[in-house]
Amino acid sequence: MNEEQRRRQEAGQRQEKDYSQYFQTTYEPPSLKQAKKRGKEDVEIHYDFDIPEGMKNIGEGRKFLIRTYGCQMNEHDSENMAGILMRMGFTSTVDTEEADVILINTCAIRENAENKVFGEIGHLKQMKLDNPEKIIGVCGCMSQEEAVVNRILSKHPHVDLIFGTHNIHRLPELIQNAIFSKEMVIEVWSKEGDIIENMPRARKGKIQGWVNIMYGCDKFCTYCIVPYTRGKERSRRPEDIIEEVRHLARNGYKEITLLGQNVNAYGKDLADIDYGLGDLMEEIRKIDIPRVRFTTSHPRDFDDHLISVLAEGGNLVEHIHLPVQSGSSDVLKLMSRKYTRESYIELANKIKQAIPHASFTTDIIVGFPNETEEQFEETLSLVKEMEYDSAFTYIYSPRDGTPAAKMEDNVPHEVKKQRLARLNAIVNELSAEKNKACEGQVVEVLVEGESKKNPDILSGRTRTNRLVNFAAPKSAVGTLVHVEITEAKTWSLNGRVVEPAEVK
Ligand code: 5AD
Ligand code: SF4
Repeated sequence: MNEEQRRRQEAGQRQEKDYSQYFQTTYEPPSLKQAKKRGKEDVEIHYDFDIPEGMKNIGEGRKFLIRTYGCQMNEHDSENMAGILMRMGFTSTVDTEEADVILINTCAIRENAENKVFGEIGHLKQMKLDNPEKIIGVCGCMSQEEAVVNRILSKHPHVDLIFGTHNIHRLPELIQNAIFSKEMVIEVWSKEGDIIENMPRARKGKIQGWVNIMYGCDKFCTYCIVPYTRGKERSRRPEDIIEEVRHLARNGYKEITLLGQNVNAYGKDLADIDYGLGDLMEEIRKIDIPRVRFTTSHPRDFDDHLISVLAEGGNLVEHIHLPVQSGSSDVLKLMSRKYTRESYIELANKIKQAIPHASFTTDIIVGFPNETEEQFEETLSLVKEMEYDSAFTYIYSPRDGTPAAKMEDNVPHEVKKQRLARLNAIVNELSAEKNKACEGQVVEVLVEGESKKNPDILSGRTRTNRLVNFAAPKSAVGTLVHVEITEAKTWSLNGRVVEPAEVK
């Protein structure tokens, strides 16, 4: 038997192994029930991240690939993982065949996100059989669910490593274990969460950067899995955030997005200081970086101080992403959103008054259990009243372990699909109208790169987050230009550069 045959045989044997025998030593399983608990313990902040001696060269001559699903938080986590792997000597690749380590950073928010991941895990099976030394890891929000871990254990034993959202900093040890052990390594912490500062980071771009300001969520909307997968709300210290933003500014970044599952709750958990998102934005306003965004907001915690700071403009852009989820106060109550249709509109009007040119975007769920036609129509009428620039719209997806998943539901899936289509038709109509109104205007655009459809065209975004396509030399990438809008499409704008002269 040659070396290759021996490896295949070993991999084959692994498929049949009973993993329960390893649970004692390498199996630290998740528990959504445990993850739900919120205690009074202080959040620990760790500033001492380091790659342990002996693990710094594990990646020499090896390549990694991280496939990321889900939100910006996940994208940013992947940047941290890439940073750690690079410090261990790995280099990155986009070729699955070539990768020695493949990490799938997963999203648990809806069933279809999970299905995609299981599809991908399935596809990797043959590759693992052909090349048993490849390490396949699953991480991110899905790993925090026991049902997912059990399914991987029983149906996908070619996976080598499962870890969660709270122990990314343990990647060196986990990768080492996965490389040297024949067992599936599973380490998922179902805790409230700590804060790990100074993890290495390989940022994807040099123009736009993400900055975490807080982690976790304590809102427990009845449909949402995030409070279970991401732990309790915990804010980074303002000085650590400000230092990171300054560092990005010094390194030529043009735009930062402050990230959190519920950024408006920023600071509430900082026991020693009375400090909120408004205070933080006030500080960040003074930093020499052209654009600052933040996401995601919860209407409940959007306070007057924040509105007044945002109204001062400067580098704080006039784009507010304000998820509403439903236009019916009854549905909002069942969702436990803790605001009503009326109070949402009142807040939005207050923001519009303070920031007249603000663009508004939102998230909407249709087909929440037992949503009536009338309640759905309230969502339609709210969308029209709000005149959103755009909206992310979803069919409700039951998530195991959440309260809504236990509700009986009398709305057929077909009706939910029709509601989504009806909603999207209105959202698109509004987007097209809003874009049409931009024709003839001159707008500031941060040039991000080649347009996805045509490499001869560059594209970028306005302060209000509208996508603009225009002809310009590649040297304009990463700069701010002024573009006259010549043509509006439903989801984008076409234009021509009017300033600066060298880019025209
Ligand atoms: N089903 C459908 N959509 C959901 N979202 C969150 N949980 C669910 C779910 N169970 C949507 C919300 C949220 C966005 C990120 O995803 O609209 O704002
Ligand atoms: Fe998906 Fe939420 Fe996890 Fe982001 S935090 S990856 S949206 S489940």
